[in-house]
Amino acid sequence: MNPVKIGLLGLGTVGGGTATVLKRNAEEIARRAGRGIIVDYAATLELDRATELGMSDIRITQDAFDVVNDPDIAIVVELIGGYSPAKELVLQAIENGKHVVTANKALIAVHGNEIFAKAQEKGVMVAFEAAVAGGIPIIKALREGLAANKIEWLAGIINGTGNFILTEMRDKGRDFADVLAEAQALGYAEADPTFDVEGIDAAHKLSILSSIAFGIPLQFEKTFTEGITKITREDVEYASELGYNIKHLGIARKTESGVEQRVHPTMIPKKRLIANVDGVMNAILVNGDAVGPTLYYGAGAGDEPTASAVVADIIDVVRVLTTDPENRVPHLAFQPDSLEDTPILAIEAIETAYYLRMCAKNQAGVLAEVTKILAEGNISIEAFIQKEPESSNAEKVDIILLSHRVNEGDMNTAIEKIEALEVICGEVVRIRVESLEK
Ligand code: HSE
Repeated sequence: MNPVKIGLLGLGTVGGGTATVLKRNAEEIARRAGRGIIVDYAATLELDRATELGMSDIRITQDAFDVVNDPDIAIVVELIGGYSPAKELVLQAIENGKHVVTANKALIAVHGNEIFAKAQEKGVMVAFEAAVAGGIPIIKALREGLAANKIEWLAGIINGTGNFILTEMRDKGRDFADVLAEAQALGYAEADPTFDVEGIDAAHKLSILSSIAFGIPLQFEKTFTEGITKITREDVEYASELGYNIKHLGIARKTESGVEQRVHPTMIPKKRLIANVDGVMNAILVNGDAVGPTLYYGAGAGDEPTASAVVADIIDVVRVLTTDPENRVPHLAFQPDSLEDTPILAIEAIETAYYLRMCAKNQAGVLAEVTKILAEGNISIEAFIQKEPESSNAEKVDIILLSHRVNEGDMNTAIEKIEALEVICGEVVRIRVESLEK
């Protein structure tokens, strides 16, 4: 059988890794796919990059539409990233009857509903394993391996850059900006690193996981998103004293009233495996009604780990090239006409426990005023730390409280009242706490 010809859009970190893995493992890949897979055409703005990757024998263009419109190309592999022109390229490839493999989480999270509808209409596949958690086959696990289950909730460390920053701050006391610069140099960070540190990248990935877990359309815009920029070294240390690690988590949970879809720094008991996932590694905990908790761990970014997922998708597409479209695994795990319109809940409607840190005047009665407000809001306290002031005449002192589970709306009201107290200086820092037990 003739080899399948693929076109690569982009020869950056992931594009380079994909070309390298396809070449190095060509024989093994052909044995798995049932036929050879060759990169026939690639688009890159830096023509020298193809030579650097040892690809001087293939066709190269600076215009990605040349690849998308080429009649010899059966599978377009989009590794440019970002919303545009990736969207136009992918839609054009589908229009031309080509299958698409992409690592582009922003594209799938924001335009996935439109792209999948178009792919369905044209009878082609759009595969996107590499869009979430790099090399971890979490899409395949959720969509196929756990297909028997009702997924109850999932929680994941799904941004390697953010996890790397939090780990280095905790273990080495390094500065935020310094660690971020290293993540950029290592090729982990997004082109715009605010996507990593403000939680947007994690929100893209979470909205994809949530759709596949619960059979709902992609709704990135409804994801509650909070990044790691406000986490201080003091919070990391206080959390540790209380027996927790702070991780930036994406959490999706099905409740009776709707779906929680939220990304924020989260305190997790140190005894949980996921609390000990450090550096650029990713991990996703998925709780299914039949299987119980399952944990998926691996490299969430980087050239070859991400290429591992891209190439697996290419092999998958090659294997089913001749399958009827109706008999393929649906893009969002559930049949397109069976997606539900379960609402995504506003953050005020969720229930969780909270860590609160506040700076208070070092005087009698402060604690009584704070606890009175919490009691009025029916918020019970699980743990409490008050640090001894640095000197007996220090004017301010840190107070740290851990609450039991409470509705976020009620907690907002209490925090507003605490911040209005004359004895409290500045804003109350809040970190949500999850036990991730059931
Ligand atoms: N910037 C992303 C991360 C790359 O750090 O996880 C992988 O999606």
